[in-house]
Amino acid sequence: MTQNEIINFFSDFVKIQSVSTDKNRFSEIQKAVSFLKNFLLSLGFSVKILEKEKAPPLILASLISNKNAKTIGIYGHYDVQPEDPLSEWQTPPFLLTQKNGKFFGRGVADNKGHIIQNLCAIQKLIEEKKLKNNIVFILEGEEETGSINFEDYVKEAKDFLSKVDVFYLTDTGMHQKNVPQIFYGLRGIIYFELTVKIGERDLHSGVYGNRVYNPINVLADLIAKIKDTKTGKILIPKFYEKVRKIEKEELLRLKKTLKSDEEEKKEASVFGLTEIDGFSSLSSKIFPSFDCHGIIAGFVDEGQKTVIPKEAKVKFSFRLVEHQNPKEIESLVFDFVKENLPKEVKWELKFLSKSAPFYTDVKNKWVKKTAKILKDIFGNEVIFNRSGGSIPAAEILQRLYKKPIILTGFTLPDDNIHAPNENFDSEMFFLGIEALEKIYECR
Ligand code: BES
Ligand code: MN
Repeated sequence: MTQNEIINFFSDFVKIQSVSTDKNRFSEIQKAVSFLKNFLLSLGFSVKILEKEKAPPLILASLISNKNAKTIGIYGHYDVQPEDPLSEWQTPPFLLTQKNGKFFGRGVADNKGHIIQNLCAIQKLIEEKKLKNNIVFILEGEEETGSINFEDYVKEAKDFLSKVDVFYLTDTGMHQKNVPQIFYGLRGIIYFELTVKIGERDLHSGVYGNRVYNPINVLADLIAKIKDTKTGKILIPKFYEKVRKIEKEELLRLKKTLKSDEEEKKEASVFGLTEIDGFSSLSSKIFPSFDCHGIIAGFVDEGQKTVIPKEAKVKFSFRLVEHQNPKEIESLVFDFVKENLPKEVKWELKFLSKSAPFYTDVKNKWVKKTAKILKDIFGNEVIFNRSGGSIPAAEILQRLYKKPIILTGFTLPDDNIHAPNENFDSEMFFLGIEALEKIYECR
C-alpha cells in the first residue's frame, strides 16, 4: 500500500466506534471484527472467530507458509476506550485527522494504529515474497474492559496457539521520539464498583442533615481510609505483604530511564506531581496504586440543590505489582470495605475484572534480534523498562504458553491514550511499520 492507501485503511478502522464498555455499541464491535476478518482473508489468512454470548469475539488468523518455519504470534486489541468528554476533543474522535505531524482519533494509539502497522507490515512482506515465518494474529475486543473472556478463548485455541514460538504485543509506547522501548513488566489491575445506599428516597439536607448518613460523605470517608494521600501508601492491612522488593541492580537500571519533574509535568499537562518514598517517576511503575475513576451520585446539574441522595456509587481500581495475587487482594478489599462502612447502610461491592501483574525474562534471542532492529531503524539504543499500565493478555499468554513475550510499541508519551485528543506521531507510525517488517521477516 502507498502511504495514502495506508491512511485510508487506518481511517476506515478509526471510523468504527468499537467502544467495548458501551453495550449499545456492540454492533460496532461486530463491524470491527468484519473489517479485520475481511482484510486478513484478502491477505490469504485463514480466519477463525471465537464467540461467546454478548462478549466481543476473539479473532484468530493464521498464515502457515511452511510447517518447519517459526511461528510468530501478533496480539492486538480492536476495542477502544469511550470518547468522553467529547467537548475536549479538537477534532471529531472517530474521524482520523492529520494535524501537526500526528494522527488524531480515538484508538489511533491504543491500539488500532498498532494493529494497522502490523497488518501493513505483514502485507508488505507477503507482497514482496519475503515472508518466511508463519504468522498468527490474535485480536481481541475486550482489552479495555479487562479481557474477561481472553483466557477461555485462548484455551479454546490451544492446539493452534501452542505452535507459536514468540508473541509480539505492540500495545505500549516509546520512551520519547526515536527512542524505542521493550517492556519486561506491567502492573496488574483489579477493578471494583461500590454502591452505598442509606434508605429508600432522597432527603432534604436541612431537615435531615446530621440525622442520617450521607452516602457521598460515607464513600468519601472510605476512600480517604484506603490511601494516605501524603505518603501515597495504601492502608488496607496486608496489602503489601507479597510485593516483591525491588533489587538494587534493577533500580539502578530503571533510574537511568527517569524523567525530570518538569518533563513529566509537561508530558501529562498537570500542575503538580506526587510520589512515593522519593521514587519520583518510578512511583507509578514499581508500586501498587489506588485510584477512583468516577463517582455517580446526587445533584450534578447547574446551580444548587440541597439534597441528601439515597445512594452513591464509586468506581475504583488497584494496580498490582509482582507478586501480588488479584484473588487475595480482592478478599482483602472486600473485608476492608465491610469493616469500614457504617453498619446501618446497605452496600454492594461488585468486582468487575482483574489481571495479574506481568514480568518476563528479556534474555532470549527474540528480544535481542528485536532490540537490534529497533536500534537500527530509530537510531537509538532500546530501553528496557517497566510500565504502570496493564495488558491482561501478556500474563495470560505467558502463563499458558511459556514462550517469549515481546512488548513494544511506537506511540509517544503525550499520546493521550484513554483521554481526548488521542494521537500517534505519523513519523513514528510509518517508521514503526518498517521496523515490524524487519522483525517479522527475521527467522
Ligand atoms: N495499551 C494499554 C496499556 C498500557 C498503557 C501499556 C500505557 C503501557 C503504557 C492498554 O490498552 C490499557 O489501557 N489497558 C488497561 C487494562 C485494564 C482496563 C484491564 C489499563 O491499563 O487500564
Ligand atoms: Mn488502553
